[in-house]
Amino acid sequence: MTPRFVRREDDAAGRRPDTPIEITVDGAPVAGVAGQTIAGVLLAGGRHAWRQGPTGAPRGVFCGIGVCFDCLVTVNGDRDVRACRRRALDGDIVVSQSRVEAEES
Ligand code: FES
Repeated sequence: MTPRFVRREDDAAGRRPDTPIEITVDGAPVAGVAGQTIAGVLLAGGRHAWRQGPTGAPRGVFCGIGVCFDCLVTVNGDRDVRACRRRALDGDIVVSQSRVEAEES
C-alpha cells in the first residue's frame, strides 16, 4: 500500500472540512485529520511499520480491511486494536505492540 494524503484543495468533492486532530503514538504527537483511521494517520505521517511479528520483523498495514491483524496497536490501554479499522480520535494514545514481547511475558 502506498500512503498518499489527498490535500483538501486537491479533493475532487471539494467540500471536505479537514478538521485537524492529534494523536500520540509511542509518546510522540502525530497530526491527522478527523475521519482517518489510525493506520491512515500513521501512513500519512510516513510511518510504515508499528508492530513486530514473532521474529521481530516489522509489521504495519497488510490488507487494510481488517482481515489480517498485522496492524494491531494498543489504543487508550486497549490491546489488539486493528489500526486499519479504528477511526483516530483527537487525543488517542496509541502504543505499538510486539509479539516478541508478548511471548516472553
Ligand atoms: S491491515 Fe489487515 S487487519 Fe489491519
